[in-house]
Amino acid sequence: MKHNKYKILTYGCQMNESDSMRMGTQLEQLGFKECSSMEQADIILLNTCCVRESAENKIYGKIGEIKHLKQDNPEIIFGVVGCMAQKEGEKLFKRAPHIDFVLGTNKIHELNNVINEIKMSRHHLTELAPSDGGTPEEVLPPDRGDLSVWVPITYGCNNFCTYCIVPYVRGREHSRPMQAVIDEVKNYSKNGVKEITLLGQNVNSYGKDLVNVDFADLLYNLDKIDGIERIRYMTSHPRDLNDKVIDTIKNSRHVCTHFHLPVQHGSDRILKAMNRGYTIEYYRELVEKVRTAVPDCSLTTDIIVGFPGETEEDFSQMLNFIKDIRYDAAYTFLYSKRSGTPAATMDNQVAEDVKKQRLNKLMSVQNNISLSINETFVGKCVEVMVEGPSRTDANVYTGRTSTNKIVLWQKEGQEKQGDLLTVKITHPQTWILKGEAQYDKQ
Ligand code: SAH
Ligand code: SF4
Ligand code: F3S
Repeated sequence: MKHNKYKILTYGCQMNESDSMRMGTQLEQLGFKECSSMEQADIILLNTCCVRESAENKIYGKIGEIKHLKQDNPEIIFGVVGCMAQKEGEKLFKRAPHIDFVLGTNKIHELNNVINEIKMSRHHLTELAPSDGGTPEEVLPPDRGDLSVWVPITYGCNNFCTYCIVPYVRGREHSRPMQAVIDEVKNYSKNGVKEITLLGQNVNSYGKDLVNVDFADLLYNLDKIDGIERIRYMTSHPRDLNDKVIDTIKNSRHVCTHFHLPVQHGSDRILKAMNRGYTIEYYRELVEKVRTAVPDCSLTTDIIVGFPGETEEDFSQMLNFIKDIRYDAAYTFLYSKRSGTPAATMDNQVAEDVKKQRLNKLMSVQNNISLSINETFVGKCVEVMVEGPSRTDANVYTGRTSTNKIVLWQKEGQEKQGDLLTVKITHPQTWILKGEAQYDKQ
């Protein structure tokens, strides 16, 4: 039996992207090479998400597709990993016996042992860490000359927002030792990485389980590492974003001027039912503080529409709230019932068609705000870090501002990935800014 190519399909958030890279490293240690499609692969991994039902449905569709591939080639090794794997465990084999193994979120470093075992005896295998323990060992992503890498700093979540499945599938929160993070980032910088994104479900609680370090200390230390031009992080819980962190960001050289502060709702009643731990008034003051400290920053958020009990009045409070705050962008979601979470059994679940109507309304209000903010950039120059050619046109390049806005321009110079370039904005749109590179200012 000859196995030499692998394909990992990744769903969900950046934490999963990061885990997939790290699983890639392990497979490469076993001599596998990455290939571009499932059809060519000898090992297929689905790294799954279960945050909303729609994510799960998509993944079940993919599991069905892989059944046909395995019928043609029974030698394929097929594993389901990540959050849905953790949630469903052995039940997945009942639904889809063509899955070879199921690996939980805190067990990704066990991948090669599992693959070796499967190769020796083809039987169903499940490895699920207890959800309150297990530390993924330090596995690094492969060095592919990337400009930007994900760096997990905390695993798990202790917040238990009442709608959310993440704490149940990712386990209790724990922080990586600060020196391990610093060493990893120093190493990336030597390999040419210029941008890092620190990952955690709540990065502001970094260090709560360590001695004498917090998120601000971590940012302060990473900011000093030569070669790292941009430091991003996600996600910031508004309740835990304190003055020390804001000050550290304000005084830093490289921490980006983008704040992603998921508000989730604009009504105090709903925020309370969601167990978010803050009020609208607190959040408004926080935004005020952030905008005073970092005046040109951008602000984005996540919002859930149709949480159980949400009335027209709650919804209209939310619309007023987003009109007041004026986010650069908002990621908006239909509330999805996740069994096992407290919200799933709450009374007054909102009807699907009402949810959808509200979501459409919210999106159209927010899109107008995003566009009108972007229109204020006409004629202004922004600095972008060059990412490379856009997906559709090799002569059109893309990059992002420190505020995380995507910028596109016609390439007429020598710019290459990682360069900092000035672009004058000419045609703003809702999600992107188009402009002209200012080569004389490089
Ligand atoms: N830890 C991060 C990200 C969590 S998941 C945070 O707290 O912000 C990303 C987003 O998915 C959340 O911010 C929330 O808006 C959304 N989400 C989580 N559970 C959901 C559910 N059951 N239905 C709809 N959206 C949900
Ligand atoms: Fe889910 Fe809340 Fe934790 Fe975010 S902070 S992962 S929304 S429980
Ligand atoms: Fe999804 Fe798990 Fe991330 S449920 S959003 S992949 S933590």
